[in-house]
Amino acid sequence: MTFSAPAPLTSLPEWQDFCQACHTAQPDESSTRILTAAGLHADFSGQRYSSAWSEASIRLLEARGFSAQRDALLHGGVCNPTEQRAAWHTALRSPSAPKSAITVERERMNAFVRDADAARRWRHIVHIGIGGSDWGVRLSVSAFGYNKLWRTVRFVANIDGHAMEGALADLNPHDTLFVVASKSFTTVETLENAARGREWLAAAGIKDPSQHFAAITARPDAAQRWGVPEGQIFRLWDWVGGRFSLWSAVSLTTALAVSSDVVAGMLTGAAAMDTHFSEAPLAQNVPVQMAMVGIMNRSVLGFGSLNIAPYDFRLGNLVPYLQQLDMESLGKSVDLNGDPITVPTGPAVWGMPGTDAQHTFFQWLHQSSEGAPVDFIVCQHADHKWPSHHDTLLAHCLAQREAMLRGKSYEQALAECQREGLSEERARWLAHHRVHQGGRPNTLIVLPRLTPYSLGALLALYEHKIFTQGLVWGINPFDQWGVEYGKVLAAGILQEIQHPTGVIAEHDASTNYWVNRFARPLRSAD
Ligand code: F6P
Repeated sequence: MTFSAPAPLTSLPEWQDFCQACHTAQPDESSTRILTAAGLHADFSGQRYSSAWSEASIRLLEARGFSAQRDALLHGGVCNPTEQRAAWHTALRSPSAPKSAITVERERMNAFVRDADAARRWRHIVHIGIGGSDWGVRLSVSAFGYNKLWRTVRFVANIDGHAMEGALADLNPHDTLFVVASKSFTTVETLENAARGREWLAAAGIKDPSQHFAAITARPDAAQRWGVPEGQIFRLWDWVGGRFSLWSAVSLTTALAVSSDVVAGMLTGAAAMDTHFSEAPLAQNVPVQMAMVGIMNRSVLGFGSLNIAPYDFRLGNLVPYLQQLDMESLGKSVDLNGDPITVPTGPAVWGMPGTDAQHTFFQWLHQSSEGAPVDFIVCQHADHKWPSHHDTLLAHCLAQREAMLRGKSYEQALAECQREGLSEERARWLAHHRVHQGGRPNTLIVLPRLTPYSLGALLALYEHKIFTQGLVWGINPFDQWGVEYGKVLAAGILQEIQHPTGVIAEHDASTNYWVNRFARPLRSAD
């Protein structure tokens, strides 16, 4: 599949038709639009919709060559032209994958875990990694290990020494394994933290600290040079993006902390969503519909962000996971031709689990001047033993959704105040403060239950949504040039802080001031 530069989006008549259809479509409170994929239910009833919108969406996707591009994605075509790579994360979970490097690495990982479990070895795991080498593992461990871990699992991502210091607290060095996840094996935070781990082991009198390390990387040679035993290095490949890598041996910590079955279940669920994405007609294709609704809300209706509201305590890490997946993929404004994209692209993604979110920022979602579309995510069945808790959780999720959509008119608010016995004057004044604008779009995703399968399907759903949005916007969702510049600047400033010569490079005045102030040993006492 050779890369073909897309036409500028706004030059397409299909884009103009789509915009027109977005403005004329409306949510219809009297009907539902619920689609199902890989066992998940996606309720789009809270989004604008019309048959004209649906048809215009499909024509726009066809104008972007959706089917051919989807085939390229699913079959290892070059979908990342700026890095000249495939984006073949789906191969990592393909059930039909022949015995290949992928299955060999997966079996090596599973064998490592089997041996460690049989020997009751490595009671403590310290996972060192950041971004895509961290969030997916944190998510799966917190989703399925929240109440049944025989191993202690700590995560260290940040270069801030407090993170490593806290992670090492009260661990037994003799029974601690450091899992270093880094596709590039060059990430400063990860290498520095790994070095502190090695020093900690040596300080405890461990003769060969390197035996306490495993690594997952696309640079096995670099890991071996660092000192990780070859038999404990697991491969990743260049054609797997970091934020798409939890399907690889990056999930070693999940397998050790919870079980290899959890990893396998997530792969199976994601593969089921891949099949749906590949085969479902576009009008019933859940990732496609999520994508088009998202483009409508972002690029046409002008919502600046997307709120993720998982109504499940175990999915707290879903928000940062999706922040990286979405914002590192779509936080771009240049198309594949190198031309500026003249419509708003990639929203800011934010959120937290409900019901906590209701007591944190739902006021803003209900009554701020703009609000944000919300992806509500909830499991129909819970895995704890208090049914009334789950009933209440479900009720709050549905109620918040209804309030955002339907709102509360002035007349309703006034009647409410009058029923409370307020004076007519006070009621007429206070009612203004109780009006909810409504018409705030939302999608409800219902998982039957939180299982490795359903979580895998959910994450693949978002991956394919993001791929489809990148295609329509003309964005390469698989590179991340925006994260490199800051790293280069930081290397120079670090040098100036650690080895001050009195002369510093040309910065802005504020940066100059603070580099001078932070420079060692000149760092001022206060
Ligand atoms: O944030 C930039 C980034 O390259 C991410 O894309 C990646 O997940 C993270 O840093 C860690 O990179 P690595 O796995 O190479 O250490």
